[in-house]
Amino acid sequence: MNILLIGSGGREHAIAKALYENPKVGKIYCTPCNPGIERYARPIELNSSNHTEILNFCNKQNIELVVIGPEIPLVEGLADFLDKFNILVFGPKMLAAKLEGSKKFTKEICEKYNIPTAAFKSFSDKDVAIDYLKEQSFPIVVKANGLAAGKGVIIAENLEEGIGAVEKNFSGAFNDAENEIIIEEFMIGEEVSFFIIADQNSFTELTSAQDHKRIGLKDTGPNTGGMGAYSPAPIMTDELKKETIERIIKPTLKAMKELGCPFTGILYAGLMITEDGPKLIEYNVRFGDPECQVILPRLKTDLFDIIMNCCKNKLSDSVIEWDERYALTIVMASFGYPESYKIGYPIEGINQAEKQPHTLVYQAGTKKDGNLIVTSGGRVLNITAFGDTVKDANLRALSATGLIKWNNSYYRNDIGWKAIEREDNE
Ligand code: AMP
Ligand code: GLY
Repeated sequence: MNILLIGSGGREHAIAKALYENPKVGKIYCTPCNPGIERYARPIELNSSNHTEILNFCNKQNIELVVIGPEIPLVEGLADFLDKFNILVFGPKMLAAKLEGSKKFTKEICEKYNIPTAAFKSFSDKDVAIDYLKEQSFPIVVKANGLAAGKGVIIAENLEEGIGAVEKNFSGAFNDAENEIIIEEFMIGEEVSFFIIADQNSFTELTSAQDHKRIGLKDTGPNTGGMGAYSPAPIMTDELKKETIERIIKPTLKAMKELGCPFTGILYAGLMITEDGPKLIEYNVRFGDPECQVILPRLKTDLFDIIMNCCKNKLSDSVIEWDERYALTIVMASFGYPESYKIGYPIEGINQAEKQPHTLVYQAGTKKDGNLIVTSGGRVLNITAFGDTVKDANLRALSATGLIKWNNSYYRNDIGWKAIEREDNE
C-alpha cells in the first residue's frame, strides 16, 4: 500500500521510519519532507491546505492511506475531504480536531461533561478582558483560542504582563479566526502527556510522556513547541491513568460521539497533576512533537498495522506492546528560538551520533544544501536514547548530542530533570 505522510518534523521522521519497517507498505511519499525523512520517503511539494491537490496526487500515485502528522491539516478538514473519496486517513475529522483547534470548544465540553480543568472565561473584547484581569490574582494564564504552535500561552505574573498578553493576542499575533482569548486559573502541579488511540468503536491506552515546553533550564523562560521529552513518565501511576481515563478521556470521547463526530486517531491529553488529581490543560489531536520521538521508538507493535486497524474501526484487534526501557529525546534548536534565529548553518556529526548505541537521530528543521545538511528551522534535530533509568537515557542522549555541532546550536542538558531528581532520591 502506498502512503502519503504529511509533515516535516522529527515527529514525521519517527513516523516514516516506523511505517517503512512494514513490508506491506509500498512507496511512502512525504510533503514537505526533510533530509532525514527522505531515507524512507520520497519528497513531494504539495500544499496540504489545497485538498484537491492532495487528492489528485493520491489518485495519480495510487495512495490509499494518508497519515497526517501536524494539527493544521486536521483542523482544516483534510480528513473529511479525503474520506469522501474513500482514501483512508489517520487522524480526526475537522469537528473532532476542534479539541485542539479551539480551546473554547474544549473548555465548553469540559464544563458540560464535568471534566476537571482550570477555571476559565473566554473573551472576544480586549477591554472587557483587561477589566476582568484587574479583578484577578496572579499568576494567571492568557491563551490564544486557536492554534499557535505551542506559543500562544502566556503565564502572566502580574497585571502589567496580563495586559501585555491580552494586547498581544488581540493584535492578531496568533491569527485566530474567532478572535477570542481564554483567561484561566494558573494550575500548580507537574505536567504529563497521556496518549490514547481511538477508532469509531473503541479506544486503547497508549503511553505517557513528559515534555519540556520552556526554553530554559529547569523549565524557565518562554514556552516553545517542546525542548525534549521522555517516556514513560513515572509520575503517571496506574491509579492516575485510571482516573484520567474515567474522568477525562471517556467523557471527551462520549462528547464527540454525541456531537456526531467520533474522535479517531491519536488523542493526547496535556495534564497537570495537581493536589486534586489530574486536570486537563489542553488536548492535541495527533502525536506530540517531540513526544512522538520517544513514544514510537518504544512501540514494539507494528505502527502500520495499528493505523490500519484504527482506520478500519478494528482497533480492538491490536495488542499494543512497549519496550519497557525509558526513551529520552533532546531537542537541538537554533539559538534564539522560540523568537528570532538564524538558519543555514552546516550541521556536523549526525552520522557519528547515530552510530552511538541505543541512540536515534531524528531530523526536523534541516534541509540539503549540496552535500551538506544545514539548519532550516527553530527546532533542528532530536537526539533520542534509551536507558534503564531516565538518568541513563539522559546521559546517553547527551553524549550523542555532544557529537553534533553547528554554529548557533542550543539545547537543554536537563531533560528529565524532575524524574532524575526522584530517581536520585530513591
Ligand atoms: P497549552 O498550549 O494549553 O498546552 O499550554 C502550553 C503550556 O502552558 C502548558 O504545557 C503549561 O506548561 C502552561 N499552561 C497552560 N495552561 C496552564 C494553566 N492553566 N496553569 C498552569 N500552566 C499552564
Ligand atoms: N510537544 C507539544 C506538542 O506537540 O504540542
